Amino acid sequence: MGLTVGVDIGGTKIAIGVVDVDGTIVAQDRLETPATEPGLITDAVARAVAGLKERHEIEAVGVGAAGFVDAARRTVLFAPNIEWEDERIADELERRTDLPVVVENDANAAAWGEFRFGAGADVDDLLLVTVGTGIGGGIVQAGQLNRGANGVAAEIGHLRVVPAGIKCGCGQYGCWEQYGSGRALVRQAQDRIQAGMKEVAALSALVDGDPSRITGPLITEEARRGDPLAIDLIADVGRWLGEGIASLVAVLDPSVVAVGGGVAKAGDLLLDPARAAFWRTLPAALNRPQAAIRRATLGNDAGMIGAADLARSHA
Ligand code: BGC
Ligand code: NA
Ligand code: ZN
Repeated sequence: MGLTVGVDIGGTKIAIGVVDVDGTIVAQDRLETPATEPGLITDAVARAVAGLKERHEIEAVGVGAAGFVDAARRTVLFAPNIEWEDERIADELERRTDLPVVVENDANAAAWGEFRFGAGADVDDLLLVTVGTGIGGGIVQAGQLNRGANGVAAEIGHLRVVPAGIKCGCGQYGCWEQYGSGRALVRQAQDRIQAGMKEVAALSALVDGDPSRITGPLITEEARRGDPLAIDLIADVGRWLGEGIASLVAVLDPSVVAVGGGVAKAGDLLLDPARAAFWRTLPAALNRPQAAIRRATLGNDAGMIGAADLARSHA
């Protein structure tokens, strides 16, 4: 098979690319995720794929979607951060594009991309943790994506880390993604601004004192400039991540844990505190083979590249 299209549908952006057998992106397109109606998302994707199909010899489409995908890999059953319920993406896209379509969870697709062409290319057992609006997970074991019995394994963002904690989009309380994600980072910054603490002055000035304008990238930028508050906010997310990763490593025993997603752009500002918390909380840390915590290498393209490859190998 030659070229396939990979689509990564996130809460804010949709990435669409034509990808070859080596994972190289031949052409790509980026859209804002239409916010209001789920049908508009499928519609926008169908139009973009049709556009690419006119210019390239495309054989199949793989879609990574930020939610729970059914075992048949056709329908998004539920998405905590997008208004989707039983969204029949594959049926609709096949009808509209006349191409075979496979749907996969976004983090699973990204894990597959990193396993084939990125941070996990040298190992057989990889855990990918994507840190964006929420926390996504993808588990590759013995070279295979672990999808569970019903397609919805690796929903690591919904591990309960705080009893009776913050309410989550999944309906539960205290989920990991309420503490170790981009949304948590922004929420913490907003709380500090609202509390009017002195050390928040620089960050607050960046948004003219309007907490609703704070974003993750803004906090990262401010941390790079050396603002101790911003550095601490990112480190705090890192600590939550490291502790959660320690528990997951205890269960899964991967060779490599790759950390991806938008927040991973903070690099060592996030990963150093994550590694420290990981070692501090890993069971029997000194008496077991060590898993490496690496930054994912495909960046924003992991989901798209992985989805395209899954369409190729499994369509
Ligand atoms: C969803 C996952 C998704 C992750 C990252 C979580 O809230 O439950 O399905 O992979 O966010 O987008
Ligand atoms: Na997943
Ligand atoms: Zn949850």
